[in-house]
Amino acid sequence: MSIKTIALMTSGGDAPGMNPCVRAVVRTALSDGLAVKGIRRGFEGLAAGDFRDMGARDVGGIIQKGGTILMTGRFPEFSDAKYQRLAVRKLNEAGVDGLVVIGGEGSMRGALALHQLGFPVVGVPASIDNDIHGTHMSLGVDTALNTIVEAIDKLRDTASSHQRAFIIETMGRECGYLALMAGIIGGAEMVLIPEQETNPEEVAAAISDAYMRGKTHAIIVVAEGANLRGQALMQRLEEMNTGFQFRLTILGHIQRGGRPTAFDRLLAARLGVAAVEQLLKGEKGVMVGLQGREIAPAPLAEVCGNKRRANLEYYRMARMLAK
Ligand code: F6P
Repeated sequence: MSIKTIALMTSGGDAPGMNPCVRAVVRTALSDGLAVKGIRRGFEGLAAGDFRDMGARDVGGIIQKGGTILMTGRFPEFSDAKYQRLAVRKLNEAGVDGLVVIGGEGSMRGALALHQLGFPVVGVPASIDNDIHGTHMSLGVDTALNTIVEAIDKLRDTASSHQRAFIIETMGRECGYLALMAGIIGGAEMVLIPEQETNPEEVAAAISDAYMRGKTHAIIVVAEGANLRGQALMQRLEEMNTGFQFRLTILGHIQRGGRPTAFDRLLAARLGVAAVEQLLKGEKGVMVGLQGREIAPAPLAEVCGNKRRANLEYYRMARMLAK
C-alpha cells in the first residue's frame, strides 16, 4: 500500500528536541508530497481522534523551543487492547496510512502495540533519561545535561564560598545516565545511580576524604532512582562527621524545559527525516536511533524488550577523577 497521509504525535514526558523533530517530520513529509496530520496529547488524543491537518507554516518558529506544540501526556490505559483497537479505527477513519510516534520507552510500547495490530508505525526516541534501547542518545538528553551542568557550576560557587557540600538530585528513575555524566563533567566528588548501590558510609568517607585533602566544596550528584534519594542521604550524612555542612537542591522539572541544544536540534532533524523515509520505504515496526555516527532503524520489539542502563565504566571514571 502506498503512503499518502501520515500522522505524528509526541507522547510521554516532554523532552527538548521534540519541537524541532515535529518540524522535521512535517516538512519531510510535505516535501515528499504527503498530507500530514498532527495528533494532540499523545495516545490519549489518538484514542479520542484529536487530529488536525498540518502545513509547513504550522511548524514555523518552533525549532528553538522546548516542550512540544502537539502537547503530550502519559496514558497508561493504552496497554488495554480496547484503546489500541480504538486508535487504529481513528487512524483509519482519518485516512492515515502511517504514524510517527516521538516519545520515551512507554511510547515505544504503544507504538509496538499498533504495529502488532498491523498499522505502519515508526518510533523516534525522546526522553531526557537516555534509557531507551536502540539509540546511543535520545532527544532531550543533551539539553538536560547542559541544564544540570549549569546548575552544578552555580552551586559550586556558593558551596566553595561557605565550604559546604551540595547534594544535587537529578531526574532518572531507572537509568543513571544523566547523573553519571553530569557527575563527570561537573566534577562531582560522588555520584549515586540506580545501577550501583551505595551506602551512606561510603559517601561520607569520600566527602570527608575530600575535606581532609583541602577541598572547599563537595558535590554529590544523586539520580532520583538511586537506592538513597537526596533528602534521605542528607539526613544520614548530617549524622556523620565529614567536616562539611550540607545543602540539598532537587533540580526537578527544570531539567525537562529549555531551548534544545545544537546537538539535540541536529539529532531531531536527522531522526525526523529518517522516520518519514522508513515509512516510505515500507519499513514498519521500527524505531530510528543514533547508532555510532549513523541513524539506523531497530525493531520496536527489540527496543521494548531491552533496557538501556548507564555504563559502569563511567562510574569508575567519575570516582577516579574526583580525587
Ligand atoms: O521519563 C522522563 C522523566 O522526566 C523522569 O526522569 C521522571 O522520573 C519522570 O519523567 C517525571 O514524570 P512526570 O513529569 O510525569 O512527573
